[in-house]
Amino acid sequence: MLVKSIMVFYLNMNPNLSYSTPTRMTPHTSILYFLLFQLTIIISQPCHRFPITDAAGGRWQYLQKSIGIVAMHMQLLNNDRVIIYDRTDFGLSNISLPDGKCRDDPYESVIKHDCTAHSVEYDVRNNMIRPLMIQTNVWCSSGAVMPDGSLIQTGGWNDGDHMIRVFNPCRITKDCDWVEVENGLAARRWYATNHILPKGGQIIIGGRGQFNYEFYPKNRGTNLYELPFLAETNDPESENNLYPFVFLIGDGNLFIFANNQSILFDYSNNKVVKTYPTMPGGDPRNYPSTGSAVLLPLKNLQASSVEAEILVCGGAPKGSFVQANNGTFVGALDTCGRIKITDPNPQWVMETMPLARVMGDMILLPNGNVLIINGGAAGTAGWEVGRNPVLSPVLYRPDHKLGSRFEVQNPNTIPRLYHSSAVLLWDGRVLVGGSNPHNYYNFTGVIFPTELSLEAFSPAYLDPENSSLRPKIFLPAPQAKITYKQNLWVMFAVVGTVALDKVSVTMVAPSFTTHSFAMNQRLLVLERENVMHLGYHMYTVRVTTPRSGNLAPLGYYLLFVVHQDIPSEGIWVKLL
Ligand SMILES: *[C@@H]1O[C@H](CO)[C@@H](O)[C@H](O)[C@H]1NC(C)=O
Ligand SMILES: *[C@@H]1O[C@H](CO)[C@@H](O)[C@H](O)[C@H]1NC(C)=O
Ligand SMILES: *[C@@H]1O[C@H](CO)[C@@H](O)[C@H](O)[C@H]1NC(C)=O
Ligand SMILES: *[C@@H]1O[C@H](CO)[C@@H](O)[C@H](O)[C@H]1NC(C)=O
Ligand SMILES: *[C@@H]1O[C@H](CO)[C@@H](O)[C@H](O)[C@H]1NC(C)=O
Repeated sequence: MLVKSIMVFYLNMNPNLSYSTPTRMTPHTSILYFLLFQLTIIISQPCHRFPITDAAGGRWQYLQKSIGIVAMHMQLLNNDRVIIYDRTDFGLSNISLPDGKCRDDPYESVIKHDCTAHSVEYDVRNNMIRPLMIQTNVWCSSGAVMPDGSLIQTGGWNDGDHMIRVFNPCRITKDCDWVEVENGLAARRWYATNHILPKGGQIIIGGRGQFNYEFYPKNRGTNLYELPFLAETNDPESENNLYPFVFLIGDGNLFIFANNQSILFDYSNNKVVKTYPTMPGGDPRNYPSTGSAVLLPLKNLQASSVEAEILVCGGAPKGSFVQANNGTFVGALDTCGRIKITDPNPQWVMETMPLARVMGDMILLPNGNVLIINGGAAGTAGWEVGRNPVLSPVLYRPDHKLGSRFEVQNPNTIPRLYHSSAVLLWDGRVLVGGSNPHNYYNFTGVIFPTELSLEAFSPAYLDPENSSLRPKIFLPAPQAKITYKQNLWVMFAVVGTVALDKVSVTMVAPSFTTHSFAMNQRLLVLERENVMHLGYHMYTVRVTTPRSGNLAPLGYYLLFVVHQDIPSEGIWVKLL
């Protein structure tokens, strides 16, 4: 009986094993939790909630049949809720606005009096949905989280294309919602990319017909700067340079990839610092020939110059969009290009994926591996032009030898094509939603019906067989504040045998994901000293936080302890 009640309490406090309690750990509960943890491992073996099935290769969970909208854009906030939004002109959604609210918008193209929601908040711990209210059209827009934890969303379509919208995560009240800033943008932003800047502002780059960029908060003056690179990479037939891949690197410049070209860009002086070679093949990788890209994990963060490597995967061969609209669905690209952009003479190294993919999402896992998930094997992004859903994710291990980096994972059953998305959750799962290649909500009579469901993919590291090796963080306490170049003691527990040399500490900035690109996603591997065994399954490791805002812009990160490739649950830390 005692064992049982302790276990129940333990489970309730451990969201990886149970979704029932939204408990936020304070330093107090942290200590209590520590004591209970000791007790439970003394009295009992850790218990398994999930049946042990086909383990290696990951596992899928069906979370929600319908969240009422298409998960076209997603962002995890530091209260462990995911803000999701769609577009306002798909017609009526499948979820009503809260408190009987309705929206009257004379500019709206489909429904001018609309009592349905087009944005929701997904409470990950409780697996619950709350409808949110958006005033203007947010279709194909972009965003980033500010250092204070608020989500800034920019642009959209129609009456929303110059709007900025702010979402402050709920703290005390439960009814926080979007707040709109009318005509906050200098230019219309539709299919633009945002990136957070070292001190916490944002740059908003491109968008359809916009060969320029701007800042939020506004710079003095016009706040609009030309970027001819976007005009040069704009394919007159099918663009192929929308939602450019943008990454901030250690020297303070932005790497920008659009279509089949890439540059290093000094945004403060509006100057192209470097032009990279064209990726072999010269095929387009951006919308609508949508591939994806990540900045691979940043390491040796105290070095005077930190190496940066970019990985771009998938997309569609030249001409695919035109062909697809003419009824021919060309096979997607099966190549990835990897380039060390900080090398004096950088060159692309090509790799072949086990599965060709267009509209795949690339998500950095806490252990530094890359999950390639969602998408199709033929056609492109756009209405009705994607084919052959690729149901199996693929894992990419950047540190393995060339030729042995990819591993195909277990498939799901739901096609996730155009307008699907994926984000990493704090517990190491990857949340997957969306898919709607139609101009409306079409649930019947189409090949790929509008998908309102949510799923999670749990990589093999979450398999119960791995639970004795999984670290559990005790310090720092959740929501701890950290600074640059700080020595940080990370205290954690592992029940099983610890390989001291296989412990690392990582920090992940959660992404704003839309259209197969996870904006602002970055992973930092912190420098560490020896791991010390404190006794009773407890360990401590001293790490040093990143050196500068170029490596890690201000704001919220998830901190993980990784042991033998198996990450702990992440805890939120605030870099200030
Ligand atoms: C959404 O609502 C429509 C109309 O009420 C219904 O036909 C459809 O099945 C619903 N879809 C889902 C996924 O719940
Ligand atoms: C890069 O893309 C442009 C525009 O689509 C195309 O004209 C050019 O041929 C491509 N470059 C290479 C090397 O294939
Ligand atoms: C479109 O398809 C038709 C019929 O197959 C073909 O004759 C035509 O050349 C195609 N057009 C393009 C631009 O590929
Ligand atoms: C999708 O739904 C819209 C609105 O209900 C309808 O007009 C359209 O014909 C449907 N499309 C298909 C391909 O069924
Ligand atoms: C345990 O995690 C490792 C590392 O991610 C993985 O390779 C392995 O397949 C997992 N074991 C099981 C049984 O899933």
